Amino acid sequence: MLRLESLTKTYKTGDKALQSVDLEVPEGQVLALIGPSGAGKSTLIRCINRLVEPTSGKVWLGETELTTLNQRALRRARRRMGMIFQEYALVERLTVMENVLSGRLGYVGFWRSLTRRYPQSDVDEAFRLLDRVGLLAMADKRADELSGGQRQRVGICRALIQNPELLLVDEPTASLDPKTSRQIMRLICELCDERGLAAIINIHDVALAQMFVQRVIGLRTGAMEFDGAPEKLTPEVLTAIYGEEDWEATIRKVEEEGEEVAAQ
Ligand SMILES: Nc1ncnc2c1ncn2[C@@H]1O[C@H](COP(=O)(O)OP(=O)(O)O)[C@@H](O)[C@H]1O
Ligand SMILES: [Mg+2]
Repeated sequence: MLRLESLTKTYKTGDKALQSVDLEVPEGQVLALIGPSGAGKSTLIRCINRLVEPTSGKVWLGETELTTLNQRALRRARRRMGMIFQEYALVERLTVMENVLSGRLGYVGFWRSLTRRYPQSDVDEAFRLLDRVGLLAMADKRADELSGGQRQRVGICRALIQNPELLLVDEPTASLDPKTSRQIMRLICELCDERGLAAIINIHDVALAQMFVQRVIGLRTGAMEFDGAPEKLTPEVLTAIYGEEDWEATIRKVEEEGEEVAAQ
């Protein structure tokens, strides 16, 4: 459903952030994109929805080739891709409900959104989503009253209310404590499963990636270094992606936390 062909990005500064990446993601597949800081993870997902313009290569979403679309067609295509950010990007002074509904902006049109008059069906769906993520009671709270984990749940609802086919998720747990990180990762993966959604989840925490997904892509200096099942991430592979580190410790942590997760 998503296909990248020789996707390449060289920034004006000369930074080669992506070097001819080929990737195919089937419908409903959730994959984790791992790699050290600066590997090109954010650039890759931003080139998909063209928040960053690729230098060359192609991106197919189903039958649509995204890289050649004009602005109007691109806006329409972007509705099919939900994005979740590390820093949530909520509007602080708006309520939880209003933040969720802002995910419909691609649909309701500018004037309607300006007056914040959303159709009742959107409001109903927002309530359903908030209920699903355990935030129904918070609908009227201002975004700045929430904890990090709650804010990310709002970010998830805002992405899902677009009813996307694909989720692009950039370091969703980077600002969260370990326990909340696991809860948020689990929630994202469960929701993808329930809705048959494909997702690319950028995550620097290898242990967390391994706990929740079936496929891991390892990126190093803009090139794909690994593509496979999480249990194939041996210390050798991890060293190839990240450089030297004590991977035995990380692998032990996955095993221990895996048991803990299974017991939860
Ligand atoms: N806006 C930008 N302008 C110039 N270089 C950038 C920009 N954004 C990222 N880069 C560079 O591109 C490379 C990949 O960055 P990024 O995609 O943010 O990696 P990651 O998300 O894996 O940390 C890095 O070398 C980074 O310095
Ligand atoms: Mg990044």
